[in-house]
Amino acid sequence: MLKIPTGQADAADTLRRPEGDPSLFIRPFTLPWKQEKDKESPIIAFRQVTKIYPLDSGDVTGIDNVSLDIFPGEFIAVMGPSGSGKSTLLNLMGCLDQPSSGEILIEGNSVRMMSDNQLTDLRLELLGFIFQYFNLFPLFDALKNVHYPYATRTGRIYDTSRAKEALREVDLPEPFWTHRPGQLSGGQQQRVAIARALVNDPSILLCDEPTGNLDTHTGTTILNLLSDLSRREGRTIVMVTHDPKTAEYADRIIRIVDGKVAGEKG
Ligand SMILES: Nc1ncnc2c1ncn2[C@@H]1O[C@H](COP(=O)(O)OP(=O)(O)OP(=O)(O)O)[C@@H](O)[C@H]1O
Ligand SMILES: [Mg+2]
Repeated sequence: MLKIPTGQADAADTLRRPEGDPSLFIRPFTLPWKQEKDKESPIIAFRQVTKIYPLDSGDVTGIDNVSLDIFPGEFIAVMGPSGSGKSTLLNLMGCLDQPSSGEILIEGNSVRMMSDNQLTDLRLELLGFIFQYFNLFPLFDALKNVHYPYATRTGRIYDTSRAKEALREVDLPEPFWTHRPGQLSGGQQQRVAIARALVNDPSILLCDEPTGNLDTHTGTTILNLLSDLSRREGRTIVMVTHDPKTAEYADRIIRIVDGKVAGEKG
């Protein structure tokens, strides 16, 4: 389990030199420890979490007093009508946003206690993100898109072996590795995005409508891939979807209506 960060540089926090370029230094990890997996404790826990967006026209409630537990290795689908708070929930899980009130715990550690650097490291170490519109860098080829978060985390800017491994894992044939996103199909782009999410070996994959922009056949291959990552590799997956057929791939469905958990199935 992650230790509660102290904000102090640890003995292990020595400056590390990226491989291949002696002139560059990257800042030390603020989360240098290895996490132990504990199947009995939630990997993500929400405790009475509310997110309010203050707007000039009045406050908008994103999610309202949500409490939930997600356990390691679970494949969860989050369903609900448009505007019900699904993306808000996922952004909070991904520490991309902070709650207005309540507590979010990742591997038992309160997100509120963490500094910006620690949150950045948490995202790089523990979380992978997959989006409906892939969100790839248009000017980077597939390999560079996948390698980028790995280079950011490790400083190994010239060692693309892990990125290649991740591209093989998602079955993107090698001739496509030098293609830019605009030269790839939707399904191929989503494979690149999944490889990018996997490159740092995260425990948690957060997917917002991962098949929302794909035809049914391509969507099915991507869902089988996600399913495999959950069952074979024990990764925790939280997937937002509108589609009941897509949600069937999950072990458990959490329904959100008007920002509240309206029911669970599974
Ligand atoms: N950045 C923001 N600023 C203000 N209001 C926001 C913001 N993000 C979301 N909201 C509001 O919060 C509520 C929940 O939005 P959210 O995007 O989480 O819904 P959703 O369930 O993901 O919808 P969809 O299925 O259409 O993607 C909506 O009323 C939305 O207008
Ligand atoms: Mg959304």
